[in-house]
Amino acid sequence: MGERKEIKITTVEAKRQMDIIAQLSQHIKDKNLKFCISTFGCQMNAHDSEKIQGMLKQIGYIETDKEAEADLILYNTCCVRENAEKKIFGKLGYLKLLKRKKPDLLIALCGCMMQQDVVLENLKKNYRHVDIIFGTYNLYKLPELLQTRFETGKAVIDIWDSHQDIVEDLPSERKYPFKSCVNIMFGCNNFCTYCIVPYVRGRERSRKKEDILNEIRTLVADGVKEIMLLGQNVNSYGKNLEEPMTFAQLLREVNAIEGLERIRFMTSHPKDLSDELITAMAECEKVCNSLHLPFQAGSSEVLRRMNRHYTKESYLELVRKVKEAMPNIALTTDIIVGFPGETDEDFEETMDVVRQVGFSSAFTFIYSKRTGTPAATMEDQVPEDVTKERFNRLLDLVNSMQADYMHTFLEQEVSVLFEEVNKQNPELLSGRTSEGLLVHAKADHSLIGQTRAVKITENKTHYLVGTCL
Ligand code: SAH
Ligand code: SF4
Ligand code: F3S
Repeated sequence: MGERKEIKITTVEAKRQMDIIAQLSQHIKDKNLKFCISTFGCQMNAHDSEKIQGMLKQIGYIETDKEAEADLILYNTCCVRENAEKKIFGKLGYLKLLKRKKPDLLIALCGCMMQQDVVLENLKKNYRHVDIIFGTYNLYKLPELLQTRFETGKAVIDIWDSHQDIVEDLPSERKYPFKSCVNIMFGCNNFCTYCIVPYVRGRERSRKKEDILNEIRTLVADGVKEIMLLGQNVNSYGKNLEEPMTFAQLLREVNAIEGLERIRFMTSHPKDLSDELITAMAECEKVCNSLHLPFQAGSSEVLRRMNRHYTKESYLELVRKVKEAMPNIALTTDIIVGFPGETDEDFEETMDVVRQVGFSSAFTFIYSKRTGTPAATMEDQVPEDVTKERFNRLLDLVNSMQADYMHTFLEQEVSVLFEEVNKQNPELLSGRTSEGLLVHAKADHSLIGQTRAVKITENKTHYLVGTCL
């Protein structure tokens, strides 16, 4: 099929894909065909994969977690760091062997990595065993792409340069019956100088409030108790809507939905975390006692070169306000080590922020150069050995702070939403507290999907053990 193209889509598009799903299912339903999907990257991709699963199941495919027994293998890819990309190319080499043994096997690639020209060229030239390639803007078109592949027998490549309308109302799967992610916006306008996301996910666009609320109401009617509102920068939700509104206003409306128990959201950009939002978080009883607030680096000079639009001081002030409104809130963060030009002194500022804030946990990343971003061509790229040494020191600090934080829960009573049977010990159920902490406790399997009070008896650093009250 064709190269990049401009297509205007409307919301009737969803109906068209549903018709194709119905046609495909006529052919597929009795064939016992299986699909296997691997998802890389963030919650956005994880949620996109749920939509892919939803469509494939409706077509009649059966899901398997074993690639060797699948008739259709999909990789939903990430390119935020180089490692993620390397992993995909490694796996594609292995799939070539698999396909030699099983010529009918279909291989599909999608997600952020596909939105880069260099990757696409490489795939076309060197990975001709890939059957279907699509991107982040046209995921909903999978049924049609699959149909074209069946009809033509040729590789189908469909990548768009930018998004069109948001397509609503397609089937979606969810991993747990009682919790779900809900997109509230797509894309990002921030262009942090290290980050590739704005180039592969496009400009910021918010879903309409009514579409979001209706989706949540439908989910709640279907048994969902906890939702995660998703966006690259949820704090700027609603700015580009026909009738602009703030994220704080949205949060209050979501909070009012009867039957819903817990609300989480990510990610919050510090530059847009308003006082109005802090108040709304504190006042909305369903909003969980946690906040993911990436600070990336402690040095104000590094933050300036990262284009983050806040300083070390303003970040710490923001944390102070958040803690004042919600004294026991669990704060988590993302940190990058080794951004171009980062000096030892700059790095110490990062360590200082970690010590001052006392995060409940932190995701730490080694800076990865992404071609096409402004930081890739900045001078003074930090040598690998220096970055590694800093990274290890940061990790030690983060781990010890996390252990201290977890320790504070000993003998405390927490409320746990039980999610699943513990994989090691089937007598235990695993669940999460409002802070997002993992708790294992002896409980009847019928309590899965229910919230119970648990008294914490042991701290195992990465999880807690407790007894149901
Ligand atoms: N929109 C979110 C997160 C996007 S990506 C936010 O702004 O917080 C998730 C994390 O990956 C980022 O917070 C950042 O810490 C990390 N990251 C992004 N680009 C990176 C790069 N080039 N190298 C290393 N880490 C990176
Ligand atoms: Fe990337 Fe920055 Fe946008 Fe987050 S806010 S996705 S780090 S550009
Ligand atoms: Fe990766 Fe795309 Fe998310 S690049 S981190 S999967 S938005």
